[in-house]
Amino acid sequence: MKHRSVEVGLSWPGKERALSPFSSPGRTSQLDGPPTSVLEAEDGKGRLLQGDNRRALAELANELSEQITFAYLDPPFLTGRAHEALVQTGTRAKDRPGPLKAREKSFAFDDRWGSRAEYLESIGQRLVLVRELLAPHGSVVLHVDSKTSHYLKVLGDEIFGEECFASEIIWRYRRWPSKTPNFQRVHDVLLRWRKCAKTKPRFNVPYEPLAASTLATWGKNKQRAVFEKDGRRARSSTTNEETQGVPMGDVWEIGVLAPVSRERTGYPTQKPEALLERLVRALSDEGEVVLDPYAGSGTTLAVAARLGRRFIGIDQSEVALGIATNRLTEAGIRFGPGKPLARSA
Ligand SMILES: C[S@@+](CC[C@H](N)C(=O)[O-])C[C@H]1O[C@@H](n2cnc3c(N)ncnc32)[C@H](O)[C@@H]1O
Repeated sequence: MKHRSVEVGLSWPGKERALSPFSSPGRTSQLDGPPTSVLEAEDGKGRLLQGDNRRALAELANELSEQITFAYLDPPFLTGRAHEALVQTGTRAKDRPGPLKAREKSFAFDDRWGSRAEYLESIGQRLVLVRELLAPHGSVVLHVDSKTSHYLKVLGDEIFGEECFASEIIWRYRRWPSKTPNFQRVHDVLLRWRKCAKTKPRFNVPYEPLAASTLATWGKNKQRAVFEKDGRRARSSTTNEETQGVPMGDVWEIGVLAPVSRERTGYPTQKPEALLERLVRALSDEGEVVLDPYAGSGTTLAVAARLGRRFIGIDQSEVALGIATNRLTEAGIRFGPGKPLARSA
């Protein structure tokens, strides 16, 4: 991997080789595993790919280089566990008490790794490939937690360049407290990098309501700064225009999915649509392509489709893709078999 403008980096044995295994053409021939299978939305606006995302991303680069506006990556969090989904079987459990529809536990995805280095290597390899797919005005958001965010921030800076680091968003949520002798962990970390520091990024400014104290002092109307002749700010004056609020900060309070939420699919680690909606709206425009290489239950894809974006979702888990397909079908999207991804020679 070529080091960009960072003087301090991460190192582990074999890192350089692991993060730069591809030299096109012929890159996918260096990967093991079955080819990616494809479902395509009948209106041509979305694709679901089942298979390892490294292979799929490398294959996508043959046809979609620099065409993705926003990529959201929500990889396993290095929990050291295998995760199970609660899958609806569709049959009514007549002879048993409990819910109307029977649900079965089914293996979803494995989050056990040989070492932290192996984990970082895996994420780094995907970031390298995602970078290639991003349009010059595009950006990537990597959703992780505080166990790994500091390592991944450094790794991401090495891949994208420190000058392309854009934001660290703290997603703060409330959850059932546990009796641990520590401060409760109630946040995740979302790291964002832009593809290109010299190109104006896609960014539709989101707003949040004014603080109660600001409202009490200044009311709901926009303030305009009044300057002295020498350029110093003298005071503010109130206009007649109602304010949209203040440009959104980087600490977001959004609830986790409630156990009875209508959004809940039974897939473990499912993220709330409200979180993805904020990201998709801010970081892409209608008609642009949104990519989620760790699609899981399809949260990003469902939000992207609802907001008029085109979408590409990848997941290696059959259970995940089944849930995501049902979710999108319920939202009115019909899928058929898609053409295989372009292979490099
Ligand atoms: C944390 S979950 C994503 C959850 C998703 N954001 C949602 O809202 O449902 C991570 C997903 O990544 C998938 N995954 C992990 N490693 C992968 C790989 N190498 N290739 C493709 N998918 C992978 C897992 O199967 C799992 O569904």
